[in-house]
Amino acid sequence: MLSQIRQKAVSARLLQRCMLNSGRTYVSRVVAHARFQPAKPSLSIQRASLSTTRTLRNAASEPSKLQILGSTYAADNWTNVTPTILDKTGRNLLHQPAHPLAILKELIFKEFPTFAHYDAITPDVSTYNNFDSLGFAQDHIGRSRSDTYYINENMLLRTHTSAHQLQLLKAGKKGDRSLLDHARNGSAAPMNERFLVAADVYRRDEIDASHYPVFHQMEGVCTFSRAEIQKIKAAASSPNSSTSSAAQVSDTTVISSENPKQPEHTDEEVAFLVEDMKQTMNNMVVQILTKAVAAKRTAGNADNTQTEFPVRWIDATFPFTSPSWEMEVLFQGEWLEICGCGIMKQKILSDAGMTDRVGWAFGFGLERLAMLLFGVPDIRLFWSTDPRFTDQFAPGQINTFKSFSRHPPCPKDVSFWLPQGGEFHENDLMDLIRDIAGDLAEGVKLVDEFTHPKTGKSSRCYRINYCSMDRNVTHEEINEIQERVRGQMVQRLGITLR
Ligand code: PHE
Repeated sequence: MLSQIRQKAVSARLLQRCMLNSGRTYVSRVVAHARFQPAKPSLSIQRASLSTTRTLRNAASEPSKLQILGSTYAADNWTNVTPTILDKTGRNLLHQPAHPLAILKELIFKEFPTFAHYDAITPDVSTYNNFDSLGFAQDHIGRSRSDTYYINENMLLRTHTSAHQLQLLKAGKKGDRSLLDHARNGSAAPMNERFLVAADVYRRDEIDASHYPVFHQMEGVCTFSRAEIQKIKAAASSPNSSTSSAAQVSDTTVISSENPKQPEHTDEEVAFLVEDMKQTMNNMVVQILTKAVAAKRTAGNADNTQTEFPVRWIDATFPFTSPSWEMEVLFQGEWLEICGCGIMKQKILSDAGMTDRVGWAFGFGLERLAMLLFGVPDIRLFWSTDPRFTDQFAPGQINTFKSFSRHPPCPKDVSFWLPQGGEFHENDLMDLIRDIAGDLAEGVKLVDEFTHPKTGKSSRCYRINYCSMDRNVTHEEINEIQERVRGQMVQRLGITLR
């Protein structure tokens, strides 16, 4: 992914965002050109039981069936989920009340008492729900097998919580209790006209301290009937929000042909929705950060006294909203990308049978915010079962993580010739390393690259940094892993070792 971006020489800002962010959004993706098959619609449903049965796939014997959380799927030539990734689908970090990600999820749910709250929708979703229903172009890079984990051609591991927008709107419209009854707060929200979805999402990506192939997002969807908007406007109050004094908002964005309003909407409707959305989000973020700072002060952590949280809005593009923005907040001296958001494409609402309603939506990554709130320095720690990590947190509290000693890293290089005439995707290498080394692989970096002037062959050298979060690793152990990585690279990626 990164090397692809480097070659395309995208702006420094874009590059920085891709590297920094575990709240990765599709806005920072570069469109590549590949051909894909259109996918058939099929709904993924929630299941109360979240036990995993694992039928794993490996290079030697590729099973024709995969089991994910109780559902069985036929594998095909699109299948690229790996055993390591399938293992993660049953971890349910959001359901462990003392886990930082679950604590953050609860804080956000509390800020939206009139929305339905979902946090147990399984990650196996249809290609249709994840991409087609949201208007992703057939050649959008997000659809490629090098970016997304496919179960088979028609099913994948959701890459974002927006995958549930159409499905939940439809369920509300039809009164489909099989979905509605899974809302945590039951009848609190009128038939999914407003809802939040917190869930694990999966994207193939590089390996470093802020990227992990599984992360968590929170989706927010809020719709209004056109009549309701008139009523609210007449009463001159915004329904979800009141202006918060701690948000200093910088917003120079304008709705223009670059970031246009949809022809189905009046200027008045868009102005109403935008104001409601931006105020709601400003307030949510300020509330959470204020709580975090207060918690730190109570704990005697006086280094953090920030009481104001400047917010800035930046134009963005998503296939399923228009106009669209990204929201950033200045927290501890750093602009933090909080989320992508915008006015929902009217087609999604009309596909759900809600022709008389309009709405806004946001989606943001929980890890990046949780890393800051809880002082967690490495994204892998969220997956740690070491009590020295897990015992530091308690439900409803924002404690600052105290590092346990860092164990010495063990770097190993691997140099090889790229397959001649064949394809090489960096993310295939990342998954191969994850499958063999698991979370011992702390980082993988391209350190050298050249093309031989005579033979035209291209060489790459990657440095794999092996390091455990909870123990010392031995050279013998790492050498053995490295040998397996090298062997599998030859077998599975068709490269030639140098
Ligand atoms: N789903 C988008 C992403 O992951 C974020 C988003 C959600 C943007 C809702 C707009 C509205 O990139």
